[in-house]
This record gives sequence, C-alpha cells and structure tokens, in this order.
Amino acid sequence: MPSFVNRRDLLKFGSMAAIGMGLRLPSLGMGNEEGILRNYGAADGLINLSSNENPYGISPKAREALLAALGEAHRYQYNHTNLKDFKKQLAAHYGVNEEQVLVTAGSGEALGLLPRHFNKGKLVTANPTFGILPATAKMLGQKVVEVPLTIDQKHDLPAMLKEVDDDTSLVYICNPANPSSTIVSPASLKNFCIEASKKAYVGVDEAYVDFLDAPDNESMLQLIERHPKVFVIGTFSKIHAMAGLRIGWVIGHASLIKPLAENYFIRTQMAMSALSMSAALASLKDPGWQKLSKEKNAAARDYTYHALKAMKIDVVKSYTNFLFFPIPNYKGDFAADMLQKNIFLRSSNYINGKWARASVGTMDEMKQFIEVMKQVQV
Ligand SMILES: Cc1ncc(COP(=O)(O)O)c(C=O)c1O
Repeated sequence: MPSFVNRRDLLKFGSMAAIGMGLRLPSLGMGNEEGILRNYGAADGLINLSSNENPYGISPKAREALLAALGEAHRYQYNHTNLKDFKKQLAAHYGVNEEQVLVTAGSGEALGLLPRHFNKGKLVTANPTFGILPATAKMLGQKVVEVPLTIDQKHDLPAMLKEVDDDTSLVYICNPANPSSTIVSPASLKNFCIEASKKAYVGVDEAYVDFLDAPDNESMLQLIERHPKVFVIGTFSKIHAMAGLRIGWVIGHASLIKPLAENYFIRTQMAMSALSMSAALASLKDPGWQKLSKEKNAAARDYTYHALKAMKIDVVKSYTNFLFFPIPNYKGDFAADMLQKNIFLRSSNYINGKWARASVGTMDEMKQFIEVMKQVQV
C-alpha cells in the first residue's frame, strides 16, 4: 500500500480489499477494509467523518511537549524523569490513586484485552454498541448477550439488568453511546452500575464523556471505591485529539487493576510511548484547549443536526462528536456512494434498521457535508 493515495486509488483499493477479503463495502468500517480506508482520509479533498476524531488537533502545549520529548526519543520512557510519575499524575487528575490506574495504548487496547480476562461467563452489552470488546469476546468463543437499544436509541438499562445473572462475567456499557450518540442520565446509570455489579463486573466506556455539559457529565469513576466491580475505560483520543498517539486507561478498584496489570498487560507498561505520554500530560494541563474543542464541536454539531432535521432526516439528538441518523429508504450503498462524493462516513444495517453515522468535523466540513446530503435521497 503506498503511503499516500488519492481518492480514486482509495476507492479502488478499498473495493479490491473488500472483494479480496470476501467483505462487502457498505459499512466502510464494520469489516477489515476499515483499516485500509481510514488512514487516507485527507487525500484529495476527502472529508473524513468516519472515525469520530477531533478535527482541531492537539493542544499547542502538547505539541511543544512532543517536540521537547523528541530530543529524548532514544531513551526508554522510564528514563524520562518527567514521565516517571505519569501514572501518578493521571491518577491525581482523576482523583484516584496510582494502584487504581492502568495505562494502555489507546482504550482500544484495553477493550481488546478485557475479554481475555473476563472469559469465564457471558458478556452483557447493547446492540448496536462500540465493537472492539464484544467482537473480541465473540472471537474468543464467549457468549455475548446483546440487548437492543430503546426506540429512542438509548441503552435499555432495565432490559440489560435483567440479563445480568451469576453467570455474567462482564457488562460493557458505553456512555455516551457509540454509534447512537445518546446518553442515559447519571442517576440511572449509577443505579444500574450498583445493581449490576452485585453480580458481575461493569465496565463503563466514557470515551466521549468530556463532550457533555453539567449535569450530564458525571463520570462513574465516583463508584469505583465503594463498588469494586465497577470500572471506567477512558481515552485521550477524543477531547484531547490524540487518536494517533494511542493513550488510554482503565481506572478501577486496585483489586481489579492489579490482576489485569499482572496477567494481561506488560507489567512495566513499556508499551507506552514516551512521546505520547509527554503530550498527554501537557494536554491535561490545558483545559482551555479542551474547552475550545468542545465548543467548536457543539456549534458544528448543532448546525448539522438542525440542517438534517430541516431535510426531514430523523437524526438522533447527539451528546457526542458524531451524529446518527436513519436512512431507511436508501436503496444503494450509502457509505460507498457518499465516498464517491468525497464524504467518508459509516453506514450499516443494525437490528434497528439502516443507519448512518457521521463524525462532527469542522463547521466548513459540515457545511460541505450538508450540501452533499441535499443531493442524495435518504
Ligand atoms: C466508545 C469508544 N471507546 C473506545 C474507542 C477507542 O478509542 P482509542 O482506542 O483511540 O482510545 C472509541 C473510538 O472511536 C470509541 O468510540
């Protein structure tokens, strides 16, 4: 694969790869072709709304930290004096102690490894939800109970709770949810976590929590001390715009983090890049930049939401940096057709019908997206 491709090559390569792997192109991301396509989003004017990235880039302070760390790139990360206490600083930021923190190469690494730890009983989760953890559990032969979202595309907490029994090893819940972009209230989620954790571990994926406003922006981290089976999975990929730097974490009770670290992760956590950790630390200290990202995202999201509504598209109210909308009458392959028009997004058939998901790009990108949407019949 060349290091740079134009849009035509991208389409050609994506189709070839899809055919070669016996996959269909429609979902553009629900199969292995995703990895091939998503890397080339900037090619030839393509607007990449496929991966819920933050289009505003990393904080200038994080950029400075990265550049400074480059001079030390030949050193192992444990030889960086300023990084020796990375975990401690991350813990302090979240108001927990070091023994409660596991740092991972993006939260994706944690989501891929957790089912290897919780492999004794069934997994309870939603459908649709973010795929890495349930897909890995299935691949490992684990029973996965997938509870459909409610009619308004929210987690059906009572129905999920009913599925949690003594044979359940893990409950995975994403709040805010991906791909549906909805939330459940902190009070109902708290109650759910407390009840479900009487029988099983409950992992709450809070990748998008930083896009929420009060009073919705309560993290379930508040539960970990008193409810040792509740844990939270987080990432620097979204509000911190560090998807390419690969920093994530799991925070939970020390009684969970210890065996995870000892059995399934490299104990010294040498997998983590010193450059990425330097940038992450600097970004944590730049709340102003996060605020700017959040505000710009909200403005572009609200514009897009209302523009889609005006076109009679029944888009779901989003609490994230992406929008989820039904395309029940679309005859062809929506994502592939949009790609032909320079818009890279996802579409798929879920149990609740045919849907598309578009990340919120910059205001300019969203205006172009809306212009294209006006040309297609959904
Ligand atoms: C809900 C959710 N969790 C986790 C991730 C993985 O993020 P990363 O591996 O970049 O930390 C994503 C990425 O889109 C996501 O949507």
